[in-house]
Amino acid sequence: MTSHLIAPHGGTLVDLTVSPERAAEIKSHSRDWPSWDLTPRQLCDLELVCNGGFSPLTGFMTKAEYDSVCDTMRLTDGTLWPMPITLDVGQEFGDKLKKGDKVALRDAEGVMLALIHVEDIWTPDREAEAKAVFGTTDQKHPAVAYLMHQSKPVYIGGKVEALQPPLHYDYRVLRQSPAQLREEFAKRGWRKIVAFQTRNPMHRAHHELTLRAAKDQDANLLVHPVVGMTKPGDVDHYTRVRCYQAIMEHYPANTACLSLLPLAMRMGGPREAIWHAIIRRNHGCTHLVVGRDHAGPGNDSNGKPFYGPYDAQELMKKHEEELGVKMVDFKLMVFVPDEDRYYPVDEVPKDKKTLNISGTELRDRLALGTDIPAWFSYADVVKELRRSHPARGKQGFTVFFTGLSGSGKSTIANVLLSKLLELGGRPITILDGDLVRKNLSSELGFSKEHRDINIRRIGWVASEITKHRGIAICAPIAPYDNIRKEVRAMIAPHGGFILVHVNTSVEECEKRDRKGLYAKARAGIIKEFTGISDPYDVPDDAEVVIDTLTLSAEEAAQEIYLRLEKEGYISSEE
Ligand code: PPS
Repeated sequence: MTSHLIAPHGGTLVDLTVSPERAAEIKSHSRDWPSWDLTPRQLCDLELVCNGGFSPLTGFMTKAEYDSVCDTMRLTDGTLWPMPITLDVGQEFGDKLKKGDKVALRDAEGVMLALIHVEDIWTPDREAEAKAVFGTTDQKHPAVAYLMHQSKPVYIGGKVEALQPPLHYDYRVLRQSPAQLREEFAKRGWRKIVAFQTRNPMHRAHHELTLRAAKDQDANLLVHPVVGMTKPGDVDHYTRVRCYQAIMEHYPANTACLSLLPLAMRMGGPREAIWHAIIRRNHGCTHLVVGRDHAGPGNDSNGKPFYGPYDAQELMKKHEEELGVKMVDFKLMVFVPDEDRYYPVDEVPKDKKTLNISGTELRDRLALGTDIPAWFSYADVVKELRRSHPARGKQGFTVFFTGLSGSGKSTIANVLLSKLLELGGRPITILDGDLVRKNLSSELGFSKEHRDINIRRIGWVASEITKHRGIAICAPIAPYDNIRKEVRAMIAPHGGFILVHVNTSVEECEKRDRKGLYAKARAGIIKEFTGISDPYDVPDDAEVVIDTLTLSAEEAAQEIYLRLEKEGYISSEE
């Protein structure tokens, strides 16, 4: 089909997929090659390398390309390219490779997706890479943290031949390769296309600004959200896509379309903006909306932003001509209630009151189930967000008791259980120390290693219960702080987590000695006994601390109940 779409970056749209004959040949030889199971990030990178989203790249970078990109933001032939696209492998795996080898690249299930012809093997200086590409070695930067802790130590570079794209079972009709999207644009007769990059749900402000951006340029709009890897803690892509689908209904017919991009973002600010422009050009777009703090990684260890708010716009402007993609700068849109319309913040009529709701405020309103006004977001978008992020009164939660043996954990846990059962509304599971040791951890002892395994198991079960909007009441000793924190991190993204320290002293527990275990521990009959011959880390992060000398079990349970109520997890509304 003839079209007048923008040429890809570097002139040719790369497609690394081989013919069926070559695929058969590769498969038959692959038995003798080593296999590398791709990480989620590598899968994203491979998909865009192979389908031309990263044109003109034809594989993973060699050392010369990598050095050149890190130092000069250009490939060795001078083409602008801001981000290293490297294949990192384990030390042992790398040690066995030599130049000229072929490696089968497989997904997590072992399906062979591609082969790489190994041209280079080297150990990168990851700190130098972080400094050059992201301008920092501060591990608060998600890409730096990834580089230091998740990246493998050896890089291999070379050309790639693709057998098949990575498999996706979700939203297949919304996933278009650059060639498919170009074909779609050609069919629709679209030539000028403004791309909108996003990793967040879209509200009315985004709708207004994208509409305005497209209108100002006499162009069409591509809503092109990232569904590969975004910033940890972002709204999951399933929820986001349902929100995007809802908002697409609010654009005038035939002016906007939605397509999902399997990109693994680095949150690299200015360099990332250039990268996004190149990727959108390859997908046939002529313009890119670049906002304040585009692809920003948040704040550094000193609480300061890594990049200036307009650094990305400045770098993009500097390279705009060479990129061939025009920047549409994104003004913060604010609502003017007097006129019932949005304005870019610098165009608000004098003395007019403006309204805005921050991301934090929105999260709070979702958590509390309070109103999200129609001027802020469309009802169908809010409905999707509320489905995935119900108010706390409908979320699951975990009450995690910790304390010495005989401190009173189980008794208080059982009183709390009764109170919550009387209330009804959510299924409840109690994971008491003894109960778990019988049913889930019967093979474990009391070494640090075994206790950690035990608590991780409890944490995993509790996180599943919380995710499914039930209540988990856990009551192990859980003597180690680091594992308790790990458990909190597993559960908190899915709902509530309340740590309750039953703060009964070892002297008091020993005095009570209801099970006679302290006497046995003192006599050395029971080894590694918490508080006697094994450590207990007193928590510094407990939401509730119970003093069993001054509180009865009923009073203690009521204190926890009130805390749950205060935080919104117990609500009278059904
Ligand atoms: S841990 O550390 O959290 O894995 O322990 P937990 O699973 O809660 O198991 C504690 C119960 O096991 C009994 N028990 C011991 N506790 C501590 N140290 C040693 N060495 C030990 N050996 C047996 C004890 O009855 C604990 O029950 P509770 O209900 O806490 O008294």
